[in-house]
Amino acid sequence: MDDNITNDIINLYKEKNWRNIVEKYHDHPERNKLLWVYPGEENFEFIANCLKELKCDRVLSVGCGSGLLEWMVTEATGFPVSGIEVDGAWWNCKYAPPTFIPLLFTTSKLEKDILNILGQHSLALLFCYFNNRPAFEEYIKHFKGNVLIIIGPGDGRGVHTDPKPFGDVNNNWDLFKWQEVRNSKDFIAFYCKKNIIPINK
Ligand SMILES: C[S@@+](CC[C@H](N)C(=O)[O-])C[C@H]1O[C@@H](n2cnc3c(N)ncnc32)[C@H](O)[C@@H]1O
Repeated sequence: MDDNITNDIINLYKEKNWRNIVEKYHDHPERNKLLWVYPGEENFEFIANCLKELKCDRVLSVGCGSGLLEWMVTEATGFPVSGIEVDGAWWNCKYAPPTFIPLLFTTSKLEKDILNILGQHSLALLFCYFNNRPAFEEYIKHFKGNVLIIIGPGDGRGVHTDPKPFGDVNNNWDLFKWQEVRNSKDFIAFYCKKNIIPINK
C-alpha cells in the first residue's frame, strides 16, 4: 500500500505521535484504509477510566485489523492492548495494510492458545467495527472476564456492524457506561457481566 495517508500515519507512529494521527485523520475520507474509528483525547481518557474502575489490566481486541487503534489505546492509556485477526496469509502478504502491533491469528475455530487468553479474568474484550455475529458469540461463550467493550456505529450513522454498540448483547451483560466518539455517531460502550458493577458507579 503506497499512499500519503498510510505513509504519514506510519511516520507519526514511528514518532509515537498518536495525538497527531487522530487530530489529522479522524475525518479524512480515506481513514478507513487503516481504521474505522479515530477517538479523541476525551475518548481515550474515558476508556482508561472505565478500565481502571472495572479493575481490568489488559485488553484483547478481536478483529483488530491493522492494530492502529490498539496501538493508540496502549500509548494513550498505558493499558496493554493485543489484537487477534483471521487469515494470517492475507495479513502477511505484501498487499495487506501495515500493522501497528504484532497480530495473533486464529481460525474460525478457536484454538487452545486463544482460549487460554480468553480465560484471563482481568482481561477486557474489545470488538471495534466487528461484523461477524457467529464469531462474536463464540468469543463471548469462552470469555471468562467481566468486561466487554463494543465500538461501532449508532443509529443514523448509516454503517452496519454486528454487534452494534447498543442492544446486541445478551442478558448476562449490563451496559456500564458509554461515550460518543467525538461527534461522529460512533459509540464506545462498556458492558459488565451481571452483578459485578461497582456500587459507587
Ligand atoms: C470491519 S473490520 C474492523 C477492523 C478494525 N477493528 C477497525 O476498526 O478498523 C473487521 C475485522 O474483523 C476480522 N474478523 C472477522 N472474523 C474474525 C474472527 N473470527 N476472529 C478475529 N477477527 C475476525 C476481519 O478480518 C476484519 O479485519
